[in-house]
Amino acid sequence: MSDIFVFGAGGHGKVAIEAIRAATPGIAIGVIDDNPANWGKTLLGVPIVGGRHHACAHPHVALVPAIGDNRARLAMMAWASDAGLALATVIHPSAIVSPSAAIGAGCMLAPGAIVNAEARLGRGTIINTAASVDHDCVLGDAVHVAPGARLCGGVGIGAGSLIGVGAIVVPGIVIGRGCTVGAGAVVVRPVADNMRVWGVPAVVREEFRSCPQP
Ligand SMILES: CC(C)(COP(=O)(O)OP(=O)(O)OC[C@H]1O[C@@H](n2cnc3c(N)ncnc32)[C@H](O)[C@@H]1OP(=O)(O)O)[C@@H](O)C(=O)NCCC(=O)NCCS
Repeated sequence: MSDIFVFGAGGHGKVAIEAIRAATPGIAIGVIDDNPANWGKTLLGVPIVGGRHHACAHPHVALVPAIGDNRARLAMMAWASDAGLALATVIHPSAIVSPSAAIGAGCMLAPGAIVNAEARLGRGTIINTAASVDHDCVLGDAVHVAPGARLCGGVGIGAGSLIGVGAIVVPGIVIGRGCTVGAGAVVVRPVADNMRVWGVPAVVREEFRSCPQP
């Protein structure tokens, strides 16, 4: 019997498993993955117990959304909500979280992550290895702040946006929903929804066109 399910048998699933073990030694973990080819295998010694049907059959077990891709994680979280399944938050013991910060359900704080005073994280947001989110930042659902990225004070990030490895966002900047900030970028101007920006200083390179244009 599992005490907690990690949803996703990829690299982020591995990080989640080790963070859970470090934070809660002895807890019984199961991995949920929708690829039947993975069922019966193990991830870091944890059994991959089945697809989302398995989670539905164990509705008392909370799910860690361990999918790095923001859109896929958002979709998984919407399904879990419809299915009445709870999301679990994972905070590695080496992460530093201000007592005045608010962390949404299903967030994942990797080793060395920092979340400072009165920052607010939406549901299913990832603060990855050694990334920092400073005071008064407001992050939406399913944001991913990649390893080593730094958000200065008062930054806003819309749902589903990726802040790439090592990027910097200067104080007070607002980045919209569904954006990608490239690795190593320095964002000094606001970014509208669904934009891809990179460079130093970061400039808009492209707009996502996920919907058919009229
Ligand atoms: C910005 C990004 C999304 C662009 O990806 P892409 O559309 O596939 O871009 P390409 O690789 O085709 O590169 C296009 C051009 O931009 C340049 N470029 C790409 N990413 C860049 C970056 N982060 N900074 C500066 N220049 C970059 C390339 O060198 C290339 O230049 P060229 O046309 O002169 O040869 C991607 O490079 C990136 O930085 N992703 C973030 C990854 C990340 O942090 N993931 C988190 C993992 S945990």
